[in-house]
Amino acid sequence: MNNAPIGVFDSGLGGLTVWSELYRKMPEESLIYFGDGKNCPYGDQPREKVISYVDDAVRRLIDKGVKMIVIACNAATAVAIDYLRKTYPIPFIGLEPAVKPAALSSKSGVIGILATKATLEGRLFRETSQRYADRVRILAQVGEGFVELVEENREQSPEAEQIVGKLLRPMLEAGADRIVLGCTHYPFLAGVMRQIIAGRNVELIQPAEAVERQTEAVMQKFDLRAESGHLPTYEFCTCANEAYRQRLIAKSETAKQMIF
Ligand code: DGL
Repeated sequence: MNNAPIGVFDSGLGGLTVWSELYRKMPEESLIYFGDGKNCPYGDQPREKVISYVDDAVRRLIDKGVKMIVIACNAATAVAIDYLRKTYPIPFIGLEPAVKPAALSSKSGVIGILATKATLEGRLFRETSQRYADRVRILAQVGEGFVELVEENREQSPEAEQIVGKLLRPMLEAGADRIVLGCTHYPFLAGVMRQIIAGRNVELIQPAEAVERQTEAVMQKFDLRAESGHLPTYEFCTCANEAYRQRLIAKSETAKQMIF
């Protein structure tokens, strides 16, 4: 048993789509969310820079006494997870695009993957997509501009329709029936994606539930669960500023309401 908080990290607001699942399914666990916010987006930045941003955030979370950390960011996982596991003694949960469930459930044999450049160029994605390449055709696409739409609260705007439609429509036209959201910001764009998909038998696949299950399994393995009846606390931190921290809190409310 361990009542210390779980750390949840992302480059910005996106990891709240994972945080909300932990919040819902683990009512006795305290959570500290760290959204960088100052250096976001990570997706196009050099590896060394991303590793140093993640390292800084992880140290701050460890200083706050977290018992484990969920890296709720595919880009940060792709670049930094090996380094983190080698450097720090606590367990880390990483994220990678959900290629496997998409490939195994696709009926058309075509799946679309939307993610950042860092994720699509990473070893984890390369290895997983090679494993399923004989089963399905994988259309991988960088979600150019998607993270900015979410960070700027423009998910419901006409530009969102335009920016998302431009990349999503060609996947649908090529016959994709599963679209993997390989960046934790993208589930905030699910509304606009569903309008574009309307009428087609296409599923959006996001990782939050699988990550929550994996977190439970790791807590079980290392006896890290909070005591039953433990009253949780929720904290939000950033290396941006107080206004951004308030945005994290407001967006966490939106994430809690999202039914995927
Ligand atoms: N939310 C992050 C992810 O899951 C990416 C955002 C970024 O590029 O910083 O990949």
